[in-house]
Amino acid sequence: MGQTKFDAVKVGTGEDLVTLTRWVIAQQQHAPEATGDLTLLLTAIQFGCKFVASKVKQAGLINLLGLTGTANVQGEDVKKLDVLANDIFRNSLIASGKTCMLVSEEDENALVIEDHNQRGKYIVTFDPLDGSSNIDCGVSIGTIFGIFKVKDSENPTEADLLRCGREIVAAGYCMYGSYCEMILSIGNGVNGFTLDPAIGEFIMTHPEIKLPPRGKIYSVNEGNFKYFDEPCKKYVEQVKQKYSARYVGSMVSDIHRTLLYGGIFGYPADSKSKKGKLRILYEVFPMAFLIEQAGGKATTGTQPALDLVPEHIHDRSGIWLGSKDDVEDLEACYKEQQ
Ligand code: AHG
Ligand code: MN
Ligand code: MN
Repeated sequence: MGQTKFDAVKVGTGEDLVTLTRWVIAQQQHAPEATGDLTLLLTAIQFGCKFVASKVKQAGLINLLGLTGTANVQGEDVKKLDVLANDIFRNSLIASGKTCMLVSEEDENALVIEDHNQRGKYIVTFDPLDGSSNIDCGVSIGTIFGIFKVKDSENPTEADLLRCGREIVAAGYCMYGSYCEMILSIGNGVNGFTLDPAIGEFIMTHPEIKLPPRGKIYSVNEGNFKYFDEPCKKYVEQVKQKYSARYVGSMVSDIHRTLLYGGIFGYPADSKSKKGKLRILYEVFPMAFLIEQAGGKATTGTQPALDLVPEHIHDRSGIWLGSKDDVEDLEACYKEQQ
């Protein structure tokens, strides 16, 4: 043997890998009052995401592309994958025994868990399949979820659903893209976990995500420009002089890029869609929470998005989210008008 020294490096044993479940359990250990209910609820959500991820990959092979031929309560065409994803999440969440009410984009009414033995203290609001228009052409789509705690689990009421976004307990999304990633916040920052399909586990790959204070990308459907109000028009004219444009058309994917690269994403209210397009309880609130937790800002243009209180479960709002300085530039256009 020569003089070279060798260190034993353990590769591929999994010892240094932080799975999503391991991370959630570790957070629970730091909170003495924790009961483990949130851990179990997040396990149910993880299961739903893995299930949907697998079906998204096979969709073209097992007759899961295309429309169901029906419209949802919001008048939108429903895709087969919308229905399947909704069933998967609904069943998984109910089976967890940790929820008392569910609000899904695909269901007209909120679902109340009547059976006391199956009822828990959490409310989950979710968009089972976000970016439906991108399903059939294989572009990234996702699932978005928000978690609230009911005030009295024996007596869940409408007031538990129609509440301010600041009361959200946890939120996240799972993106089904070139890789499948779950982004999660339980109120102490934002972490990202990539699904390793070989072992069926989400592994931490993006710890403590922080948005850069300013980005170089703006993201908005400029096909709607003619309907925008004057502050929006002014901001878009201004930002396009210096930034690149990117717009996937799946909120999950546009937000994922924004979280990782910085910049701004918006779907404003306009003269065609008076309250915007994105739904407060299962699109606006979860994403605004994640963006704020990552150091960014989320606004309607005139007020912080998390200060909104929806009037009904499918209520909508205009929204701009992203890097702090970029969102403040947008807000400045509204302030000038006042
Ligand atoms: P969903 O597929 O859940 O109905 O949501 C679609 C949303 C959102 O993902 C995206 O940001 C937006 O609709 C795109 O709308 P446009 O096609 O009008 O740009
Ligand atoms: Mn959506
Ligand atoms: Mn959807």
